[in-house]
Amino acid sequence: MDWMLDPASEEPLFRQIARHFEECIFTGTYPPGSPLPTERLLAAQLQVNRSTITEAYAELRASGLIHSRQGSGTRVSEHLWGVAQRQPNWFAYTNGGTFIPTQPLVKRIREATARPGIIAFNGGEMNPELFPHHELQETMHTLPLTRLLGYLPPEGDPALRLSLCDYMREEHGIVATPDQILITSGAQQALHLITQCLLSPGDAIALEGPSYMYSLGVFPSAGLRLFRLPVDADGLEPEQVIQLYRKHKIKLVITNPTYQNPTGTVLSLKRRKRLLAVCEEIRIPVIEDEAYGALRLDDAPPPLPTLVSLNKGNGLVVHIGSFSKTVAPGLRIGWVVAPPSVISRMADAKKEIDHGTSTLSQQLLTAFLQKADWRGHVQQLKTALTRRRDLMRQALSDHVGDKATWNHPKGGYSIWCQLKKTIADQDLIEKAIAHGVLFMPGTIYGAEPGFIRLSYACPAESEIVEGIRRLGRML
Ligand SMILES: Cc1ncc(COP(=O)(O)O)c(C=O)c1O
Repeated sequence: MDWMLDPASEEPLFRQIARHFEECIFTGTYPPGSPLPTERLLAAQLQVNRSTITEAYAELRASGLIHSRQGSGTRVSEHLWGVAQRQPNWFAYTNGGTFIPTQPLVKRIREATARPGIIAFNGGEMNPELFPHHELQETMHTLPLTRLLGYLPPEGDPALRLSLCDYMREEHGIVATPDQILITSGAQQALHLITQCLLSPGDAIALEGPSYMYSLGVFPSAGLRLFRLPVDADGLEPEQVIQLYRKHKIKLVITNPTYQNPTGTVLSLKRRKRLLAVCEEIRIPVIEDEAYGALRLDDAPPPLPTLVSLNKGNGLVVHIGSFSKTVAPGLRIGWVVAPPSVISRMADAKKEIDHGTSTLSQQLLTAFLQKADWRGHVQQLKTALTRRRDLMRQALSDHVGDKATWNHPKGGYSIWCQLKKTIADQDLIEKAIAHGVLFMPGTIYGAEPGFIRLSYACPAESEIVEGIRRLGRML
């Protein structure tokens, strides 16, 4: 039997078993009249007391789903007359739909993160101690609520789009007009809109391997075929794009060129230019996810030009930005820069999906950008992240030593670490939980086994050294 009990669940074991058989009966795995395993056999298979099975079967018998007869054992009832089906068969529903279920390991990590005492290096968000609470609170008080309760255009608040044009020009040399901007519910929705508006099931796309994007269900759920662009110290290899185009007719390239999640690499200037040249030649767009682009740490070299700015308005690049990593992910504000025809198509879809990003969040952020010391906040954040990265690297030297090697990220949120000994992910995570520490296994991002991603942004600063000590002990 493939199915297993969940010992961590609060649901009693006999109920889990009864529910499992109920689902199997309703989905036809056990058709009417078919025999169920004997109590003794099932108890041995599930490694529980026989009395637990007796209790589970009694419950199924009471609801009319099974019956037991001397000589013929326990069988599924031949008919369902009188059977109390209290609710729809949600099992069948939840196994349908087009959205691919979340990987069990990711669910396990999420569930364990909430446990008291765990030091979490796995999260993709900054610790609340890094949010600009005070500035956002002050800005919030200045907002006239009367104007904030209606829908905005699906493209986004015109004032925010204008502020974004100024911000991108001043900070990143990106020249864009408001009709080239769409406000989204985070960068994540931008990726989703790309799959829904620009691609069709069966299309092939290329992305970095490993990549944050690989960890998302959104691409496979849209029926896309993913092809890997290998990443080295200078980022993805543009020549591979040509190979993948010839072999699989890839429709676009998705890259996270600056402080890539999870490897921390920066696509070199030479490769940025080459990537654009290659994609121009084969006429496929480049999706540039710059979620961490503004987070250059204090000792890092000056930032490289973005792909969209290097392309100088030639319409090859769809650029994605986000305030999740610099202000607060809970605001759910990201944006897309693209040719107006693409923005218009995506805005129509966005109207259908959610009528536009939250009015309150958009106007709070507009006021924050205009009134608060936004640049001062980002500088403070970068200094705090630099300090945290250094603290983590020092702790790794002190407590992990020769059991792993790790990088020196120049920006972003995390350290990419290769363990000397490869341990199966499931084991690794269970051992980590037992030691009170969590991180992301690299395989979730499509890496070879043996890598882990450690976020220095996610824990409280005071937890970093202790968390790494626990990791060292575990290894
Ligand atoms: C590379 C990258 N892109 C996009 C996102 C999504 O961010 P959000 O939807 O919060 O803007 C993340 C989040 O971790 C990320 O790491």
